[in-house]
Formats: sequence, C-alpha cells, structure tokens
Amino acid sequence: MRIAVIGNGNVGSGLALALGRAGHEVTTIGRSDDLSAAVSSAELVVLATPYGALAELAGKADFIGKTVIDVSNSVTEDFSGLQVRHKTSAAEEIASLRAGATMVKAFNTIFAKNYGKGLKVNGQPIRAFVAADDDAARGTVKTLAADIGLEPVDAGPLVNARYLEPIGFLNIQFGYVFGHGTEIAPRWQFS
Ligand SMILES: NC(=O)c1ccc[n+]([C@@H]2O[C@H](COP(=O)([O-])OP(=O)(O)OC[C@H]3O[C@@H](n4cnc5c(N)ncnc54)[C@H](OP(=O)(O)O)[C@@H]3O)[C@@H](O)[C@H]2O)c1
Repeated sequence: MRIAVIGNGNVGSGLALALGRAGHEVTTIGRSDDLSAAVSSAELVVLATPYGALAELAGKADFIGKTVIDVSNSVTEDFSGLQVRHKTSAAEEIASLRAGATMVKAFNTIFAKNYGKGLKVNGQPIRAFVAADDDAARGTVKTLAADIGLEPVDAGPLVNARYLEPIGFLNIQFGYVFGHGTEIAPRWQFS
C-alpha cells in the first residue's frame, strides 16, 4: 500500500521502517514536508504525532476518503494520566476533526522500541489491538499489522479506543514507573 506516516519520531520512524521492510511504499512526513501532497497520494495515513498536534494538522490536508490510523495516547505533560478518557477517546476526538476520513485506532499499546526489535516479547509476537467502525478499514489495518510481524486482534468499533487508550497508559506505567522497561507489551489470553 502507499502509506503516509505523519511524524518521524519514535513511533513514526519505527512503523515506517517496519512497513517499508514488509514491502509497502512509505513516505514519512515531518513538519517541513508537504503534508497535503503526501496525504492526497496515500491510500492510508498514520498519525504518529502527539495527540495535541492533531487539531493543527486537520486543517492542513484533505483526509476525505482516507483510512487514518491514530496511534496516540493522550498522556498529560506531567505523565499523571490521559487528557481524554472514559467518555470519549483521542481516536474519537480526532475522528470528529476529520469529516470523511475512516478512523482506526491501533498500535497505541506498542512501545516504539519494539519496532526495531522484531516485534516479539519472549519469542511471541506482540499483539496489535485494532478498533474501527468500518469493517474493511479494520481488516486492512489488521493485515498491515500481520505484514510487519504483529498478531492482530480485532478490538471492535472505534468506541473501544476509550479502553485501548487506558491500556496504553497502563503499559507506560509498567514500562517507566514500575521498572519493566519498554520491551514489554500487553497480551490478552484467549482460550
Ligand atoms: N513512544 C512510544 O513508545 C509510543 C507508543 C505508543 C504510542 N505512542 C504515541 O505515538 C505518538 C508519537 O509518539 P512518539 O514517541 O513517536 O513521539 P515523538 O518521538 O516526539 O515524535 C512525534 C513526531 O510528531 C511530530 N510533530 C509534533 N507536532 C507536530 C505538528 N504540529 N505537526 C507536524 N508534526 C508534528 C514531531 O516533529 P518535531 O520533532 O519537529 O516536533 C515528531 O516527528 C504519540 O501520540 C504517542 O502517545 C508512543
């Protein structure tokens, strides 16, 4: 797929590398690049920017008809919690800014460091929880996740981003506060 990754920080560069290795045509977009042109020529867009950047980006490109993946955890500046929680989610708030785009929540529970480490923990593939209202978009992102070596998990409609984002925050707690480091990942047990 032709994929535009907005933001070339930890997650953006890691995901771009992994998607490129899997054979996708990936463009990463920094602040000085032509956002509008990159989005218009992409089949799929990844927002790998802080949650707060998204309101600004929304006015700079036309996202109509695009599948857009939101990876964000809206962590507060003091890391004490999430800016958006429980009654809504970052993904839903972003979706409301982008009329016409198909929003997918994914990859927010995966520490960026793992993209350069084979996306496995203890030999098992990291799980990628994917939530979206649009079945086809959810399916596309699950396939992308599998392409890069993740184990995709269908997490249902976009409203479930309200629950995936706190899991992302808990992952940060385990990684940074409880001292387990960033080569960890949440893994649901299914029977
Ligand atoms: N790091 C992780 O392990 C991890 C894991 C899961 C989810 N996430 C989520 O992933 C997102 C990105 O995190 P990150 O760690 O990759 O952050 P990061 O390393 O700080 O990278 C953020 C990128 O976004 C760009 N950016 C910021 N504001 C922008 C704007 N207004 N317009 C265009 N570009 C802008 C930054 O550009 P500049 O460098 O020019 O500021 C940078 O390239 C966050 O929402 C985070 O919650 C992170």
